[in-house]
Amino acid sequence: MKTLVIGTGGREHALALALSRDPSVSEVHAAPGNPGIGAFAALHEVDPLDGEQVADLAARLGADLVVVGPEAPLVAGVADVVRARGIAVFGPSGAAARLEGSKAFSKEVMAAAGVPTARSFTCTTPDQLAAALDEFGAPYVVKDDALAAGKGVVVTLDRAEAEAHAAGCERVVVEEFLAGPEVSLFAVCDGTTTRPLQPAQDFKRIFDGGRGPNTGGMGSYSPLPWAPADLAEQVVREVVDPTLAEMRRRGAPFVGCLYVGLALTAAGPRVIEFNCRFGDPDVQPVLALIDSPVGELLLAAAEGRLDAVEPPRFKDAASVTVVLASRGYPESSSKGDVITGVGAANGVADVDVIHAGTALTEVDGEQQLVTAGGRVLAVRAVGYDIADARARAYAAADLITFDGLQRRTDIAAEPLGVVEGASLLD
Ligand code: AMP
Ligand code: GLY
Repeated sequence: MKTLVIGTGGREHALALALSRDPSVSEVHAAPGNPGIGAFAALHEVDPLDGEQVADLAARLGADLVVVGPEAPLVAGVADVVRARGIAVFGPSGAAARLEGSKAFSKEVMAAAGVPTARSFTCTTPDQLAAALDEFGAPYVVKDDALAAGKGVVVTLDRAEAEAHAAGCERVVVEEFLAGPEVSLFAVCDGTTTRPLQPAQDFKRIFDGGRGPNTGGMGSYSPLPWAPADLAEQVVREVVDPTLAEMRRRGAPFVGCLYVGLALTAAGPRVIEFNCRFGDPDVQPVLALIDSPVGELLLAAAEGRLDAVEPPRFKDAASVTVVLASRGYPESSSKGDVITGVGAANGVADVDVIHAGTALTEVDGEQQLVTAGGRVLAVRAVGYDIADARARAYAAADLITFDGLQRRTDIAAEPLGVVEGASLLD
């Protein structure tokens, strides 16, 4: 099977790598891709937000499966254009991607489907906002209704800060604060049938101990030894299946990855958010542990026949991913800092260096890898258990240097599972 991955980040690198390790996959292409993917796959220039360009490339390559990685092209309807050409695509339609594209829409679907989530109000006026903040009290949770690349949510004890965030948005969702460790559950869906992957946890704050501003994710690990063994089944039953049914009822069946961000509260799992794609870096350790063909799984989902394939199998092992970010992240990022040690780190047994924001430029007549984004690289290791995987990931990460490098030292450290959940508030 020929595959084409759309996107440029760590998620797309990890997906392309997983596809390349599926014996039924003969070719991996990526567009635009990144230098890490370029080491083992063919890269193509396209505007990932332009459905016609993506569909033309897929047709020219004779792709059997297109995987659209990021949310922006999905919300823009890129998967619809590819699907309309008769090419199998893993990724929801623009209508179904509204589950991520609009917080208000996802809350409406959850309410209609009876999915357990934080109570919430959608507000457009200062009076509505004041009433909602009064209703729930502190800690306040205020979310921009629009797609905001991870920057749209404020959780604060300070009412003035909550009000200031809302004032900068056209429409906000104010919701009840959920206390408990956060879990990422990726559900591969074909519109009707669901195959959940193994749960993972993402460390979202920039500094050790869960301090500082939210980021796109500074590290992750899987499995979660402290979580209930039947968590994935429970979330499919209580969250994913009812959501898929509601989306079908609305004429927008969800085909792709439904990323369920959960808080494990005292009252049980509650949905914090839906995303319409795999999460990064949380999916990286999950993909490292899959022991069944990823291409076959995603193709079956794209073709609406997930019920005919075996559920994914996972290695009896653990995986940890440590993100290396550039100076200034998450407020800004630094470009052009020369990176060294990637080859050495990649050479460590059971380690993959995943590229998230890198570029190749010519320095003194030679191609040189440099930083090109906030999250630059992710060092992912597999080990016997989490402590082993963690030790390998950090040993490999120690080999990589660039000016301004930032990384957390406590990814997947004790106490597992409650680090971020206990410190949502600064
Ligand atoms: P989101 O973009 O919805 O994932 O929100 C970003 C982060 O804000 C989440 O990962 C949580 O840490 C936090 N958050 C969002 N909603 C809530 C909530 N209702 N209660 C507590 N924390 C929340
Ligand atoms: N790691 C969080 C996300 O992908 O949204």
